[in-house]
Amino acid sequence: MKYFLDSAKLDEIKFAYENYTIDGVTTNPKHIKLSGKPFMQCVRDIAAWLKETGLEGKDFPVSFEINPHLEKWEDIVEAAKEVSSYSKNYVIKIPCCEQGLIAAKKLEKMGVRTNVTLVFSPSQAIPAAKLGAKFVSPFVGWKENSGEDAFSYISEIVKIYRTSGYDTEIIVAAVRNGKQIADYAAIGADIVTCGLQVYQDSFEHPFTGYGLNIFREAWDTTAKA
Ligand code: E4P
Repeated sequence: MKYFLDSAKLDEIKFAYENYTIDGVTTNPKHIKLSGKPFMQCVRDIAAWLKETGLEGKDFPVSFEINPHLEKWEDIVEAAKEVSSYSKNYVIKIPCCEQGLIAAKKLEKMGVRTNVTLVFSPSQAIPAAKLGAKFVSPFVGWKENSGEDAFSYISEIVKIYRTSGYDTEIIVAAVRNGKQIADYAAIGADIVTCGLQVYQDSFEHPFTGYGLNIFREAWDTTAKA
């Protein structure tokens, strides 16, 4: 199971890479907004950081979503080509709709890697794999927030991909807690992506703190003896 960080904040990306061994980064327009920087500055800054750290050209994908107002595949392709030219690591997020899937197919043929995003059903995940997208991003948090079950549709996507031998990697996206991380690792999803706080919370357990207090007290007793 790979861990991707869902953030466009360079300080968070650096921290998670140096301390949590993350395997890649995903962003969306909301994350760009939260970074406080214009989109193209994020594109340039993250490309510069990849070069500085020696990650450029290595297996450390960074997904960027292009202008979501673009509706025709021709325009999506042009915008994707421009953003991807900044780094070999860049993967372009393409919304799962007819024009998006056409664009993703053309881009993959040109060697621009894609991440088919905003996927909410197994029937959306299949064409992403058939066209050879590098990644597919089904969102679990959004479904669960609105009261829907997400586990069954992710399980179905994993099953379909394994049965059909598709190479597209499944990024379980909008992950909100440690239980979801563990559940999706257990069924064989390739990657989870979530914010820094979700990873931080997932490293903790109340019993760890409880146990530490017991051990500290015991330590202090023997240290005094
Ligand atoms: C990842 O690729 C998605 O953009 C992301 O997980 C969406 O989730 P959010 O609601 O946490 O931004």
